[in-house]
Parts: sequence; C-alpha cells; structure tokens
Amino acid sequence: MNVLANTAQFQHQFPVPRQGEGSSKISVIGLGYVGAVSMACLSSLGHRVVGVDVDPVKTEMIADGRSPIHEKNLEELLSTGVADELITTTGDISDAVLKTDVTFVSVGTPTAPDGGCDFKYIRAAARAIGEGLSRKQSYHVVVMRCSVPPASTLSVMVPEIEKASGKSMGDDFGICFNPEFLREGTAVADFNAPPKTVIGANDWFAAEIVADIYRPVDANPIMTTIEVAEMVKYVDNVWHATKVCFANEVGRVCKPLGVDSHAVMDIFVEDTKLNLSPYYLKPGFAYGGSCLPKEVRAVVHLAEQVGVDTPLFSSLAATNNKQIEAAVDLIRLSGAKRVGFLGLAFKAGTDDLRESPILEVMNRLIEDGCDVTAYDPAIKPDTRVGNQFEYVRNVCPHLEPTVSALPELLRHQGVSVIDESDVVVVTQNTPEIRQIVAARLERAKIIDLVRLFKVTPTFENYEGIGW
Ligand SMILES: NC(=O)c1ccc[n+]([C@@H]2O[C@H](COP(=O)([O-])OP(=O)(O)OC[C@H]3O[C@@H](n4cnc5c(N)ncnc54)[C@H](O)[C@@H]3O)[C@@H](O)[C@H]2O)c1
Repeated sequence: MNVLANTAQFQHQFPVPRQGEGSSKISVIGLGYVGAVSMACLSSLGHRVVGVDVDPVKTEMIADGRSPIHEKNLEELLSTGVADELITTTGDISDAVLKTDVTFVSVGTPTAPDGGCDFKYIRAAARAIGEGLSRKQSYHVVVMRCSVPPASTLSVMVPEIEKASGKSMGDDFGICFNPEFLREGTAVADFNAPPKTVIGANDWFAAEIVADIYRPVDANPIMTTIEVAEMVKYVDNVWHATKVCFANEVGRVCKPLGVDSHAVMDIFVEDTKLNLSPYYLKPGFAYGGSCLPKEVRAVVHLAEQVGVDTPLFSSLAATNNKQIEAAVDLIRLSGAKRVGFLGLAFKAGTDDLRESPILEVMNRLIEDGCDVTAYDPAIKPDTRVGNQFEYVRNVCPHLEPTVSALPELLRHQGVSVIDESDVVVVTQNTPEIRQIVAARLERAKIIDLVRLFKVTPTFENYEGIGW
C-alpha cells in the first residue's frame, strides 16, 4: 500500500480532527474494564462515543450514567458523558459502526483450552464490524485494543472483516493495533497520563487518525508495525510479572538472612544506569564474565542454605545455556567446517576470558571437528592471559582443549578471521567489528549474536540469533 496515495485518496472523505477539536464519532465494542474506561475517557476529550456490548446489563447501566465496574472516577465520567449527550449505548455493533468513523475493539481474549488465545469474541465482533462496513460508503478505522499474539490482527480479524463487508483493508477501511496499558484501579488517571501510547499500523492515514484522538493526552505516540505493537503488550506484561517474582524471591531470601528486603530494593531501584534502564534488555548473546555467573550461583546457593526455593533465580543458568546452545545450533546448521569468531571475551573492551560463553561455543565446535579461528581487539596471541587460562582450566575443566588451542587460534586482524572462515560468528558490537563485517557483508556468511546493525541485513547469508 502506498501510504501517501492512500492519504490523498481519503483525506476528503474523513475529516481528521485537529488538536483539541475532539470531533470524532467513535464506537467502542466490549464494555468491560478496558472498553468502559476508554468510552468514558474518550467522551471526556469531547468525542461522541457509542458503546456496544452483548451484555444488556452493561449497556443499560452505562446508558444510565452508571459504571458497570468498580473503577475510580469512572462513574463520574460516564454520567457526565451521558448528561452531555456524548455517550450512548447499543447492542448492535453493525449499527454502531455505521454511525461512527472509528471503532475501538476491546472484547475479551480468554485463554483457549490449549493455553493459546481464544479468538471467538474477536471473530464475532469482526464479523459484525464487517456487516456494518458493508452498509457504509465512507472510510472507517478499526482500532484493535485486545491483547493478542503477534499477527492475529491481520490474520484473524481483518479476513473476518473483509469477508463480511466485501471491502478491502487499506482502501475502504484502516486497521491499527493500539495496546492498552491501563492499570485497573488507576485506569482513568493512566488514560490521562499514559506510560506510553503505541500505535501499530500498516498505513499512515489510519495511524494519524488514531494519533489525533490521543493527542490531548499524548502528543508523541510511538508509531510502529502492527506485529510489534501486538508483541509489545505481551512483553510488557511478562516483564511486569518477572519484576514481581524477582522482587518476591529477593524478599524470600532476605527474610531468613535477617536482611531488610525493602532496604535492599530501595537502593536497587535508585540505580537507573544499570538496574532500571535499557541495559541488559536487548536480545543478544548469553551473559558471562567473572561476576554474573559466579554471583547467580552464590545467590542460588544462599537460598538453598536457608531452605528457600527460588525457581526464577535457579532458572537463570539454564536459560543462559539455552542461548549458548542456540548459537551452536545456528553455526552447525550453516554446515561450516571453518568457523571464525569476532570477539572472544564475554564483552568488548576487556581481555577477561573468565566464563566467557564464547569459549563454550568454540569448545563445542572444536569437539565437532571444526577449524576455529578468533580475533579480539583486546586479546592478541602475545597478550598475557596465562592466569586467566589457569582460572578457566580450574573452573571449567571441560574447556581445556579450547584454552590450550587458543594461542594458535588467535589472529592479529579481524579480516584474517573472515578470510579463513566459512562462517563468521560476531560476538562483540564495536565500531571496528561493524566496519569489518559491513565491508564483507555480501561475501561472508555471518552469524550475528549482538545485533550489529539497527536495520537487519536481508542477505541470505546473514543470520541473527534473536531477530
Ligand atoms: N483488564 C485490563 O486491565 C486490560 C489491560 C490491557 C489490555 N486488556 C485486554 O483488553 C481486552 C479486554 O479486556 P477486559 O478486561 O476489558 O475484558 P472484559 O471481559 O472485562 O470485557 C470484555 C467485554 O466484551 C464484551 N463482548 C464480548 N463479545 C462481544 C461482542 N461480540 N460484541 C460486543 N461485546 C462483546 C463482553 O460482554 C465484556 O463486557 C482483552 O484482550 C484484555 O487482554 C485488558
């Protein structure tokens, strides 16, 4: 879809509200915790909102200006919206679509018997939206708000709408995925001060319409693809769950040790450079080095000593090993017999080889019978790393063959490693290594463990570990 052509085609049909104008007619399908709050808050921005639900109790309560759920300030907003004639309700989705320009969809997405997402409410709502669109001449935007697996909006919802309407996404209607980040209990306040506004779209015209609706509460929404927006919602919630369990395991370990867990975590959260920050939060390679593996082992041991079960902490080494295995699998799949490594230490800028996960990968390949070479700007064949070799031999005796072979495997230059290899494994993201790889991207086979480039190269011979 040519976005600009699409914009020009529909601009005359759909008057985009200017900032603060608040003139959209919006239907909200599904008046549960998300829908009822959206409806009330959108009306508070001046939009006329038609709410739809299959449950007549909810539609009747809202039409009376009463809240169907307990949520701070919701009833006041609903009753004001009804009094100002901005809020109406119906049980007929098709009619609501016909009478509005934008439809927000917030029906439930319960867990299916197999543990996946149950799409039955989404499919039913999509079919009814399609019926409404079939009776409509003008452009319409459907805004999906339900939490769903990536690609569901385009593969489940859109086909149902197109089938029922006989109309085409992009030409007759636009689709956006706009995840909901409200917290129950502070949902109205969160709507007015959102942590972020994310709009996933495949056409800018539809995205701009949704952005305009949110402009009074967030002038800078994050625009992305529909699939990324869908996944963001899931990842956010998994992260929040991880934080809760992490903090609770800290508490369970601290209590028998007589350490105040809140004093610990108060200091922990003060660190916004390494703890609460983007650091360590990008998919890449396994952790390693002299601290993380050792200290994770120490805390797990401490917990065992005081009889506390810490499944999250205890699982870290296993999930880290999975990342090492994933790298080994990618290299084996390439079929390469000569494997070169750009980066040998556990991270760039150090010659510390203690518990470097790269050594684990190299070891497996040497055991497979591969010819291995390596380049690390911080470790040259004449670098004095004898003590570290001793450490590696003691702590990880299984790495002995690799450690003994290292002096012969190391090269003075990265290009030598590329020239001598069938596949090059990139383990450090530095300007020097980026430059070496970029210059040979079309010729060399690359396995990237560190996301060297923001935009992933599309060459067939390039493979990323988590992208
Ligand atoms: N509750 C939250 O805090 C929250 C936060 C973010 C995202 N979400 C997601 O938003 C979606 C909605 O969540 P919720 O908690 O509001 O669910 P809910 O169960 O409270 O509300 C869903 C509503 O949809 C109605 N409905 C079902 N099928 C319908 C149809 N065909 N036509 C009209 N109405 C229909 C139901 O009667 C119900 O009132 C889910 O995907 C959820 O995962 C929820």
